[in-house]
Amino acid sequence: MELHVFKTAQDASQYAADMIIDLVKEKPNAILGLATGSTPELLYQNLMADYKKNHTSYKDVVTYNLDEYVGLAPEHEQSYRHFMNEHLFNGLDINMENTYVPNGLGIPEENAKKYDAILNLIGGADIQILGIGTNGHIAFNEPGVPFECTTHAVDLVPATIEANARFFDTIDDVPKRAVSMGIASILKAKKIILLAFGEAKAKAIQGMFEDEISSQMPATALRNHPNVVVLVDEAAASLLK
Ligand code: PGA
Repeated sequence: MELHVFKTAQDASQYAADMIIDLVKEKPNAILGLATGSTPELLYQNLMADYKKNHTSYKDVVTYNLDEYVGLAPEHEQSYRHFMNEHLFNGLDINMENTYVPNGLGIPEENAKKYDAILNLIGGADIQILGIGTNGHIAFNEPGVPFECTTHAVDLVPATIEANARFFDTIDDVPKRAVSMGIASILKAKKIILLAFGEAKAKAIQGMFEDEISSQMPATALRNHPNVVVLVDEAAASLLK
């Protein structure tokens, strides 16, 4: 894994944005794997700013997202589909029909299977963007989920529900389940860019590099991938040896 430590989250996010912009210019029908959460927000702002200024076109780009909450309709303010529309897609010329997010409504296990079929048709991402949970989770692959899993329905652990409660009125409103791509699906990407900012992520970043490779620390699976770039700020890197 290649590690770059930046002074600020904005510096790291601009670096990541430049990698995506270069890819899309070179390969207009690039496949992007995308993530939600607070971590990629600056990256997405940078992509939208570049689109406004330089008109980099996403017309033929295909995207797929890592996960979606079970029980939330696409229009729900906290659904990941809504997040992606608001934080990125509406600010680009992307064809919405080329943007895939798992379906949160209906039977989760069936939606997971359908999503895997879509991913198999599209093929691995040219670049996959990832954040990391404070417990080392990647997408909603919580500690203990086998690396071999493809898209599946997951029960969120209490730590994740608590971490995500900040986006909901009360903790009881946070969905308890999600449909998530598995580690095996994520590792199909040609290149992976993992972003992490702030002191709260320092332990997870340390674990990703220094723990033994095990499903107990899901992010260690990335050490099995040949092309991972980790972009962090100084706070997130503070516990690395
Ligand atoms: P965050 O979430 O970007 O909101 O910190 C990351 C994650 O839980 O994977």
